[in-house]
Amino acid sequence: MSHITNEEFMKKEINVVVTGAAGQIGYSLIPRLIDGNLFKDTIVNLSLVEIPQVVEKLEGLAMELDDSYFPHLGSIDIYDDFSAASHNGNWFLLVGSIPRGIVYKGKKIEERSDLLKINGGIFVDQGKAIGSNGANEAKVLVVGNPANTNALIGMNAANNKDQTWMAMTMLDSNRAKSMLAKKINCNVSEISKMVIWGNHSPTMYPDFENALYKNSSVKEAISDLDWFSNSFIPSVQQRGKAVIDARGASSATSAAKAAIDTIHACENPTLSGDCFSAAIMSDGAYDVPEGLICGFPLMTLSSGKIEIIRDLSLSDGGKQRLSQSVQELIDEKSAVQDLL
Ligand code: NAD
Ligand code: LMR
Repeated sequence: MSHITNEEFMKKEINVVVTGAAGQIGYSLIPRLIDGNLFKDTIVNLSLVEIPQVVEKLEGLAMELDDSYFPHLGSIDIYDDFSAASHNGNWFLLVGSIPRGIVYKGKKIEERSDLLKINGGIFVDQGKAIGSNGANEAKVLVVGNPANTNALIGMNAANNKDQTWMAMTMLDSNRAKSMLAKKINCNVSEISKMVIWGNHSPTMYPDFENALYKNSSVKEAISDLDWFSNSFIPSVQQRGKAVIDARGASSATSAAKAAIDTIHACENPTLSGDCFSAAIMSDGAYDVPEGLICGFPLMTLSSGKIEIIRDLSLSDGGKQRLSQSVQELIDEKSAVQDLL
């Protein structure tokens, strides 16, 4: 094990707020925030948030983090009050919410639309607190479903133009890379520019048209075009359900890894020719109406600014798929109008 001196790792400090910290994703996510690989040479202060009924469990997690020997771990604070946790947060990972696959108030939650009303309300107060108390250039990653519309609710309540709100589609992008790599029989790292357009839902469009294998189109490596439409796209769209059916619970370790990958993508300049996937507020790019949190191809500039990559082209079929997903986002927005 290499020895890190104080001078080396005390250079920077960052405050990370995680909701739903006692949940499945939280258990896999939180140790990776402090392992020194994500925030290099940085002390990470954790603010862990749970609902009052569960918050005591976080004492156990805090014990385990202390016991794990993480030189980059700063403070651990535990809250059942999000507003109190939100002060000076640099990163907000909003995981806390109800997943599909569980019974809630006597009803099995099957579809993301079932979650709209249950979870949406959480994000009004959290958004207000982040807008008022979060750091000036705070970044917010909404993981809790329905992630795009929850992020819209939170961003609207935050009303702070200096902060960046995103909903997670990195898991879909990672899933898509894995499926392409298996088909080509290559390593996942050889697939790049994997864009997820639209909603984190079964209408999303995993864009094989722009995806690259070793810097050439994946369509050159996979000549079977029917496979893209009949297998690849539906498999990516339905992978969340497939995991729930197999595991009896919503994906957790892969979701945690995707959250880590999203933070990494935002904290480091994007390699030329590549992009990363997350849903972000539309400014009209690709004819997506303003006022929706939509999956786009993104890049992080060396200044740290996150921008939509604007020069990708889509076939008519791709555009149609995107517009179906956008319509779903419009419908979701209408359904939560009272929260906006
Ligand atoms: P989980 O039930 O294991 O954990 C969720 C935790 O959130 C629970 O401990 C619960 O007490 C807590 N919580 C609920 N309301 C809260 C609030 N207002 N403040 C703070 N904490 C609160 O669920 P999980 O498997 O960790 O999944 C969490 C969410 O992530 C679900 O909505 C799931 O659908 C979603 N998810 C999203 C993606 C994605 O790609 N965007 C992937 C996987 C899961
Ligand atoms: C996923 O994609 O795995 C999550 O959004 C969970 C779900 O409900 O599908």
